[in-house]
Amino acid sequence: MNDIQQLQQDLEGQSPRAIIKAALARYDNIAISFSGAEDVALIELAHKLTDNLQVFTLDTGRLHAETYDFIERVRKHYGIRIQVMAPDAGELEALVSEKGLFSFYEDGHSECCGIRKVNPLRRKLASVDAWITGQRKDQSPGTRNEVPVVQRDDAFSTDERTLVKFNPLANWTSKEVWDYIRMTEAPYNQLHEKGFVSIGCQPCTRPVLPGQHEREGRWWWEEATQKECGLHAGNVIAKV
Ligand code: ADX
Ligand code: SF4
Repeated sequence: MNDIQQLQQDLEGQSPRAIIKAALARYDNIAISFSGAEDVALIELAHKLTDNLQVFTLDTGRLHAETYDFIERVRKHYGIRIQVMAPDAGELEALVSEKGLFSFYEDGHSECCGIRKVNPLRRKLASVDAWITGQRKDQSPGTRNEVPVVQRDDAFSTDERTLVKFNPLANWTSKEVWDYIRMTEAPYNQLHEKGFVSIGCQPCTRPVLPGQHEREGRWWWEEATQKECGLHAGNVIAKV
């Protein structure tokens, strides 16, 4: 059993707070990946444990106005720096000039997500030893059922360098996250008051109806097993 597998075994039954505490104790150069949705719970938990919080968000350029507003409120509420990662201008200009602004409806979301999310994420992850995400098992029966609380990030590690990925909320349900947000009076995205549950980019996210799974509002024109954008490619690779 390697080091990370051992850590996974030690942390699997622990609370999100204990997992974040262990992550921060082990890695100085570690960053929270904040999507502008209910993963604000990670920031609420972590800012109580350290004054040295690194948070980044991937600004695809296509987020809802409410999400931009929320990211700004979070920055002010916690008094933290949020690194806003932008897509490469040349790559983006080539895509939208060639294929228009809505190519994802015609030939799938992977190309646009690659340019707007995955490449900026790769750039960010090259500068840290570990990252913390808000992924949970209950977010997607199709792809996230087996998300561990810590793992080697096989999608972004290289032969020379191991990148570690913590998913402290993996075993929390959506209700537990929301109970925690309410209890701590953490800020939240106003879209949640308009029927949105899982929130991504504006053209690729819609509200869900009662009883629908939260993931059904994301890339709704694609199959459930395709509903990953490459940030968490390991979830899909692992299924193949
Ligand atoms: S996605 O891959 O489908 O877009 P999802 O919205 O479920 O991901 O979010 C899961 C976790 O991925 C978030 O808690 C966050 O850690 C990370 N993430 C997703 N989107 C972003 C984003 N735009 N910026 C930073 N992190 C993100
Ligand atoms: Fe592009 Fe949609 Fe992916 Fe956002 S979610 S990067 S708009 S394909």
